[in-house]
Amino acid sequence: MTTQSNYPLSRRTLLQAGGGLFLTMAWRQRPAWAATPVERRIVASPARARLAGTGHPETDVWTYDGMVPGPLVRLRQGEPVRLTIENRLDQETTVHWHGIRLPNPMDGVPGLTQPPIKPGESFAYEFTPPDAGTFWYHPHANSLEQLGRGLAGAVIIEEREPIAVDRDLLWLLADWRLNAQGEIAAGFGNRMEAAMSGRVGNTVTLNGSVSKEEPVRAGERVRLRLVNGSLARIMALRFEGHRPVIVAVDGQPCEPHEPEGSRILLGPAMRIDVALDLQGEPGRRYRVVDDFYDGLAYRVTELAYDEKPPIRSHPLDTLSLPRNPLPELDLADAERHELTLQGGMMGGGGMTGMGGMMGGSMMGGMMGMGGGAAWAINGMSMTGDGHAGMEPVLTFQRGRSIVLNLRNETAWWHPMHLHGHSMLVLGRNGAPVPYRQWQDTVLMAPKDTVKVAFVADNPGDWMLHCHVMDHQVAGLMTVLRVA
Ligand code: C2O
Ligand code: CU
Ligand code: CU
Repeated sequence: MTTQSNYPLSRRTLLQAGGGLFLTMAWRQRPAWAATPVERRIVASPARARLAGTGHPETDVWTYDGMVPGPLVRLRQGEPVRLTIENRLDQETTVHWHGIRLPNPMDGVPGLTQPPIKPGESFAYEFTPPDAGTFWYHPHANSLEQLGRGLAGAVIIEEREPIAVDRDLLWLLADWRLNAQGEIAAGFGNRMEAAMSGRVGNTVTLNGSVSKEEPVRAGERVRLRLVNGSLARIMALRFEGHRPVIVAVDGQPCEPHEPEGSRILLGPAMRIDVALDLQGEPGRRYRVVDDFYDGLAYRVTELAYDEKPPIRSHPLDTLSLPRNPLPELDLADAERHELTLQGGMMGGGGMTGMGGMMGGSMMGGMMGMGGGAAWAINGMSMTGDGHAGMEPVLTFQRGRSIVLNLRNETAWWHPMHLHGHSMLVLGRNGAPVPYRQWQDTVLMAPKDTVKVAFVADNPGDWMLHCHVMDHQVAGLMTVLRVA
């Protein structure tokens, strides 16, 4: 089977409506189905994909519907869906709908919220997405390898009213470690890497293949949905000659603002929606660069302007998105807890193989962590992908406001992700944050302390883990119970 590499959405020929504001609402033509869920079947199976682009060899990958990334799942806010996953892999899998506040039995954590889907079997995920925004889906079984071999796709949940932009684009960025033959390199779960930056790869794809350019038209406004689907690679994106404005993070709208230092910091599993006004010159090209790792900057793609004159002479007013129905926090009456992230190699900072530290004797705080653990939360290491019998570290009364003080004692970055809820970031390192932001994945720098709050309104056992997959499976994971 040959894969189809790109979301048709982003490859659609430019601007159906020359000059006019195109409302991205084609999918709204669907008749009103009352309460009948939208049904969709997705098959997980091996396939081949041309990750490095034409003229390069194909790679054996694991896919949803034969595609890398998997098919774009487009849903509407407040409308029920039934997404059936059929497993044609030769190992168990599950699907986690990352960031969507759904009922616990639909959360896709093997053992904890559902039995894993065996080869040849199917499972129907049924839920009604409460929030509009950019989300994604990926396995939560053997996650390190299944995500690393390509199982990931985006979920777009449409606002009830269309958003006025010329185009709605999605860039699902993914990081692969390919060997000289163009195949995915072996060695998932390397212990040294697990205690350092995790499996950072050598090839970054945009919607499934290395991108030389993305076509744009002068004057247009794009809603660009950025998704970091990498196992471990943190990204800091700079749009040369442009001023992207952040309008949502992890699906949750925010006060529109330009990113700090003009770099969009995107940890694994994070999503950022930007309003991008194409104010460059017709016919020119502008680079999009990721310069997160010192000395390892590379070009993600180029914005390639066509020759036509700008479609409008003045940029549009600020784009702001309607709020999602998040529960009200009661901070005065909140229950407060501290969770400390521990372990990993000392030193840190760099990328695996870049730093000079070697040898297990330098693993800070790793003493006493058994069974392949390299990390811990409050002295406890839950390893793997989730399984039955994981005892919650904290139990909350349903409806209670919770404040968590997350302390990163380690020398490494961690995108900390909570299932089933969205968290309001209250402060970082003792200072308030400049923009009020709800997130499901909070990127923590080495030694950072981040204070987050959420309403424990969704009953069940929920994972809280680092989304660097090697870190998660090596102990940087815990369970919170809402009873
Ligand atoms: Cu994308 Cu447990 O998460
Ligand atoms: Cu999640
Ligand atoms: Cu981590």
